[in-house]
Parts: sequence; C-alpha cells; structure tokens
Amino acid sequence: MFSHLDKLPADPILGLSALFKADTNPEKVDLGVGVYKTAEGKTPILGAVQQAYGRLCADEGSKVYIAPSGWPGFTDAVAKLVFGDDLRANLGDHLAGIQTPGGCGALRLAFELIAYAKPETTVWVSTPTWANHVPTLAAAGLKHKQYAYYDQATASVDVEAMLASLGDAQAGDVVLLHACCHNPTGADLAVADWKRVSDLLLEKGLIPFLDMAYQGFAAGLDDDAESVRHIFSAQPEALLSYSCSKNFGLYRERTGALFVKGTRADTKDALGTNLARLARENYSMPPAHGAALATTVLEDSDLKASWIMELSSMRDRVNGLRRGLADAFVREGCGERFSGVARQTGMFSLLNLTAEQVAVIQKDKSIYFPSNGRINVAGLTDENIPYVARAIAGVL
Ligand code: LMR
Repeated sequence: MFSHLDKLPADPILGLSALFKADTNPEKVDLGVGVYKTAEGKTPILGAVQQAYGRLCADEGSKVYIAPSGWPGFTDAVAKLVFGDDLRANLGDHLAGIQTPGGCGALRLAFELIAYAKPETTVWVSTPTWANHVPTLAAAGLKHKQYAYYDQATASVDVEAMLASLGDAQAGDVVLLHACCHNPTGADLAVADWKRVSDLLLEKGLIPFLDMAYQGFAAGLDDDAESVRHIFSAQPEALLSYSCSKNFGLYRERTGALFVKGTRADTKDALGTNLARLARENYSMPPAHGAALATTVLEDSDLKASWIMELSSMRDRVNGLRRGLADAFVREGCGERFSGVARQTGMFSLLNLTAEQVAVIQKDKSIYFPSNGRINVAGLTDENIPYVARAIAGVL
C-alpha cells in the first residue's frame, strides 16, 4: 500500500529550523520561521500568559473533554477583541465561531466548509501569499487563482493591479486576504484601499476570507482590526481565520479560531453545527490549554492590560529592527533598494533576492530564510544587523 510513497522535500519554512539547529557557525542567524524573538534570541512565554498559567494550574481541576466548539468563552473573547464590542453585538446570531487547532486549523476547517457547501469554488490568493495557503486549500479539494498584490519596485501593494485582476473573478468565488501584516511581504492595504476592495467584492458577489495571524503587530489591536471590521460590516458573507500564536506567544499550543458571517438569522447554529461536525470528523476537538490561557488573559482586566503592554513592546522592538536594517543596507551601499523594510509592518519583509542569492547567503554566511527572500525581521538583533546587511549586500 505505501511502498510507492517517497521521501518528500522539507517544508519551505519549517524545514529551515532543523538546518539552522545543525549549523555550527557561531555567527549563524535564523530569519526563517515567523516567531518573535527577544534581543537575546529567545521566544519568551509572555508574562500575562505565565500568570494565567499559574491560575489555570490552581483552578483547572480536570482534563475531561471539551466540546468540538472549544474552550468555553474563548471564541466570544476573541470575537470581542477582533470585531470590537459594537460590531460583535450587531453581528448577533449572523456570526458562527469555533476554536481551532491554530490559525492553520482554522484555514483548513474553513476550506472544508467551503468545499462542503460548494465544491467547485475557486479561492483567489495574493501574489505572493503564505507558503501554506495553497497546499491547505488544495488538500480540502478546492482550486485557486492568483490576484496581483505586491509591487517589488515600490515594496508596497499595487492596488490598481489587484482590483484589475479581481475583476476577472466570478460571483461566488472566495478571495483570501491578509487582514494585517501580510505574509510574506509585510505590505498591507491602507484603510481607504480596504474600502475599494470591499466595494468591488460587493459589486461582483465575491466572498472575502480574511486570514489574521498577527493582530497587534502592525499598529495596535484596534488599528489592525480595521480591515476585519470594515469587511464584516459591509459584506453579507465573510470568513475570518484567527491565530493566537504570535500575539499571545502560544505557538505550540495551537490556539486559533474561525468565524463565519452568514445571511441567515440562525447562522450561529446552522454554520456552528456544521463546523463542529467538521471538527469532530477531523480531530474531534481542539486542544484546550492555549485557549484556556488566552481566555483567562482576555477576561481579566489586569492581565489584559499587561498583555497589551507586552504586545506593544514586541511591536516596537520589531519596528526598531526594521529601521535599523534599512539604515544598515544604506551603509552597505544598497541605496534605496531595501528601504521598504522600514515602511512595512509585522514580522516579515520580502527582500528582492533570487533563490540562488538566498542559497549563497545560507551556505556562505549561515543566515537562514526561505528561498522567496522573506525574512523574519524579529530574528534580527542590534548585534547581527550589520552582519546580515553586509551578507545580503555581498550577493547583489
Ligand atoms: C510563518 O509563516 O513562518 C509562520 O506562520 C509559521 C508557519 O507555520 O509557517
């Protein structure tokens, strides 16, 4: 049965971690997987999460199953965070929500729901998009097309080209959008552009699916949610996949959520039960621990305030590193070629490098990032920025 299955190539992002670990060069730098790191290169457990952990250990009392819909209160708490109190109240029972095993689990569950509801659906993805989007939608049996998005020359979104290519989409197609901190480019739509995109979706009968894995990393929790709030106010149907990996630092706890807005007044139950069935068929129920921690933080005003401070300091640190790297590129004689790094947001920037140049940088300088040129800015430090800038300038 299995003898024809050969060894597969490593995952383009996760595979870098093993290579980095095995590298003995003391100057090695890991700019691969999108995780936040301190100046000491550590990915810490956030203080608010640590405190929630202490409370949970004292109070949890049982490890009995939770429901396929997840930890009690989790989706409500996340919904308030992302939609805001007013919109959450307005959406009422038009919104269904379910806890998922990470943002990736939310994407997969959403694609399965779409495939179940309308198997012939086409999903439009940005050019480029996160390396796991297309494999995940294809695994659910869906097909995809690409819309124009990133303009390497200006290191920003080419909105006109984006709107023009979405003009070819057909009513009922799904458009996958990054709510903030676009992965891999770091280039987001401005608020006014979200309105233009939303108008086009309405006009053409397209269904928006927002993927949000970095709320709080661009400008702040509310600012970053503007896109979601606009789309979920304006559109009759919309999906949102959400990850707590980065903003709560809960990576390995696989903590995420999926929200779907529907036209029916009983969407909460109609789609909620369909999502719960899909969860049951796939993995039965999501892991409880991370969602319990995030819920504890979000439901306690002191813990929430402390978490927001920690999130701001992570954001400020990454933005400082962006400016530091852009300046270092100028010092290395790269001119304006990489100036976009300082204007982009979130963890990533897409450097204008070929796969061959990336391979040389990895082999000769032990600096690890995916072959598309995406760097995890959070992997930089004040100490390694000159080394990284010099190595990259050296292959141009
Ligand atoms: C990334 O893009 O590096 C992260 O989202 C981690 C992953 O699963 O790829």
